[in-house]
Amino acid sequence: MPKWKVYITGEIPQEAAKLLGQKCIVEINQEGRTLDKDELIEKIKDKDAVLCLLSDRIDAEVMEKAKNVKVFANYAVGFDNIDLEAARKRGVIVTNTPGVLTDATADLAWALLFAAARRLVPADHYTRAGKFKGWGPLLFLGPEITGKTLGIIGCGRIGQAFGRKSRGFAMKILYYSRNRQAAFERETGARLVDKETLLKEADFVSLHVPLLPETRHMLAEKEFKMMKKSAVLINTARGPVVDEEALVKALQTEEIFAAGLDVYENEPQVHPGLLELDNAVILPHIGSAGYETRAKMATMSAENILAVLKGETPPNQVV
Ligand code: NAP
Ligand code: GLV
Ligand code: GLV
Repeated sequence: MPKWKVYITGEIPQEAAKLLGQKCIVEINQEGRTLDKDELIEKIKDKDAVLCLLSDRIDAEVMEKAKNVKVFANYAVGFDNIDLEAARKRGVIVTNTPGVLTDATADLAWALLFAAARRLVPADHYTRAGKFKGWGPLLFLGPEITGKTLGIIGCGRIGQAFGRKSRGFAMKILYYSRNRQAAFERETGARLVDKETLLKEADFVSLHVPLLPETRHMLAEKEFKMMKKSAVLINTARGPVVDEEALVKALQTEEIFAAGLDVYENEPQVHPGLLELDNAVILPHIGSAGYETRAKMATMSAENILAVLKGETPPNQVV
């Protein structure tokens, strides 16, 4: 039987190519950059399956021109880079990698929370610059974490993991989400509130919603005005959930204390205002970047592809 042809749009841990290689001819983009649309179409037009990254835009035109592709296996849990409606119409399957990256991403949200609140990045730069001349009672003060109120927006897998990890810090948890999470409430004492209450009462607001039409710009000027002046915003969800222009203004005018960001409105571009601010910690979208997690995501994506090619239902089908 001829082998299936699979394209991987960027270098990922070798688990994927190893697994796929048993049954498929695997080609990998080794350019070290995202292919533009024409290049991508050229590469995938004769393929049976594509393992794609969140930086690839898989729209109706790409699907139309990649007639043999039966599955786009996204190497991410988020799938806002793929036109699901077009996939549905064409009968193309889309899969993702839920669960295996939950802890890695929630851990990174905590890293951002600590870094932004306790001003770790500017303090590190200060020390490296040789400015540390002695212990200072007023040096790099920031809001404390223990005993404060956490506000979780989007209480799914990552939002809940982020909340559970606060146990060591004796925090009160407020959350705003589509549905009540009774088990999470029992376990953590968390309370479901409306968005306004959460923004007014939380010391730390962390975003964990998917990017959807209804979550785009969920936080904008009005919302930043509701937040405490001492509040810290954490975004490991998707950039467009926040109006970045309004966030820059809120940070410049100290409407809020700080922000810890892993994602941006126009990735890979970062708003130039953010680059100037030392109350923003800015990371290059590394939420799931743990060794173990990235290996599991590779295996999971390959398994999703193999299932589809064998005519089975893939374990993580989105559409
Ligand atoms: P999930 O389990 O689906 O959780 C998403 C949560 O958001 C669900 O609880 C959902 O509520 C809630 N939600 C959806 N629409 C909402 C709305 N309009 N208002 C309020 N809440 C809403 O997904 P997950 O695995 O936790 O991942 C969440 C997101 O994190 C992903 O979509 C991705 O964009 C992002 N992410 C980023 C990184 C990174 O590298 N920075 C890594 C992984 C994931 P229901 O359950 O009631 O539907
Ligand atoms: C990463 O951002 C993901 O959605 O997995
Ligand atoms: C600080 O280093 C202290 O000992 O209080």
